[in-house]
Amino acid sequence: MTGTPSPKRLHIKTFGCQMNVYDSERMADVLAPLGYVASERPEDADLVILNTCHIREKAAEKVYSDLGRLKEMRAEREAAGGGRMAIAVAGCVAQAEGAEILHRQPAVDLVVGPQAYQQLPDLIARIGGAKGERIASDFAAEAKFDALPKARAIHGPTAFLTVQEGCDKFCTFCVVPYTRGAEYSRPVAKIVEEAERLADQGVREVTLLGQNVNAYEGEGPDVGVWSLARLIRRLAKIEGLDRIRYTTSHPRDMGDDLIAAHGEVAALMPYLHLPVQSGSDRVLKAMNRAHTAQSYLDLIARIRAARPDIAISGDFIVGFPGETEADFEATLDLVRQVRHASAFSFKYSRRPGTPAAGMADQVDEEVKSERLARLQALLVEQQQAFNASTLGRTVPILFERAGREPGQIVGRSPYLQGVWCEGPSRLIGQIAEVELTMVGTNALAGRLVEALA
Ligand code: 5AD
Ligand code: SF4
Repeated sequence: MTGTPSPKRLHIKTFGCQMNVYDSERMADVLAPLGYVASERPEDADLVILNTCHIREKAAEKVYSDLGRLKEMRAEREAAGGGRMAIAVAGCVAQAEGAEILHRQPAVDLVVGPQAYQQLPDLIARIGGAKGERIASDFAAEAKFDALPKARAIHGPTAFLTVQEGCDKFCTFCVVPYTRGAEYSRPVAKIVEEAERLADQGVREVTLLGQNVNAYEGEGPDVGVWSLARLIRRLAKIEGLDRIRYTTSHPRDMGDDLIAAHGEVAALMPYLHLPVQSGSDRVLKAMNRAHTAQSYLDLIARIRAARPDIAISGDFIVGFPGETEADFEATLDLVRQVRHASAFSFKYSRRPGTPAAGMADQVDEEVKSERLARLQALLVEQQQAFNASTLGRTVPILFERAGREPGQIVGRSPYLQGVWCEGPSRLIGQIAEVELTMVGTNALAGRLVEALA
């Protein structure tokens, strides 16, 4: 590139999962050399990117209502003599709907799929061009990662690091295998390099991301393929990188070496997001999950044997086609046995093109809502019980930012609990021992015991 580009403002709104959070940060990195700087407010932006999620209908439809608002915002800005605002749709809706987005909302300038955002600079140069030239939805994860800039802007002491993308599992309710494509693992050397850079920049905790992160099978530095457990053991050696997490995992890929790592690698945090989706074997079979309620419970028992204090989290879907009251009771029963530290639960959402969308016995919305409320009440109770069980303990907190009131700092426990306490701001970015003293609605309060680092 020649000359210094004039500053332009970029606003990215992120929907959906942590993979999208990582992608949004990387899009900002791709656009930084063109002079784009972050803007908090979309009104002020020269380029607004909606990084979208397609997993449930609500998330996908929200994009179109946002686009309608952006169109009006752009008109107001232009009427007030401001510059033109370009509007881009990125992420999974872009991948799934492609050109359809430009038909449904002609105000959209660009459509860029999750494997193609290294092409953003080229696409921006084509704004105003033919429709076909303003869409990039190629499907080669490898090309994307190689083309991304090495430098990453960091945002505090924690960072996401995508190590795996895509899914080959084809759960019958899920669009991911269609929007994110086949499983692809980044080579070990590339991940280590990115993690070392992050640690050099002051990052103390990385969360390794993948739609099926525990299916990671990356090309090793010498010969052979590395598992996620081996990758974690390697990353744990990086100086300054004190904490490692990973998400999201499938029960069937929870290998013995990964379970063992939970008991042996100090940097691997005692928290595991391991979605089970349902506690009914009949429903699990119809979902194509390849595990039963009992095999899941056995797995949790093995993980707890390796790391007794591990916090278990998960995802649940209520109202999958054909789910009866008895099936739902089986889910509640499984939840009671697992004792979750946290969980996400959703009403089944019919996604066009997936096998479950065409199944008979779709469940009524009211029944789904009623079951969701019951499940969530139980999960909230379990979360509170888990938090209460940690009261009185002294745990290391990685402080991430200042708290709401002056003199307060906020961070996370090894179990991913939000914790605040009175403390000096110099501890932000550091790990310090905190005694947990009180459970609030969203976070725990604690008392600083000593500053370790
Ligand atoms: N309806 C409801 N929830 C879904 N999920 C995935 N697809 C659907 C769907 N069609 C949930 C699953 C998954 C999480 C990311 O989203 O629980 O684990
Ligand atoms: Fe979707 Fe199942 Fe793959 Fe998870 S494992 S992304 S729920 S298809």
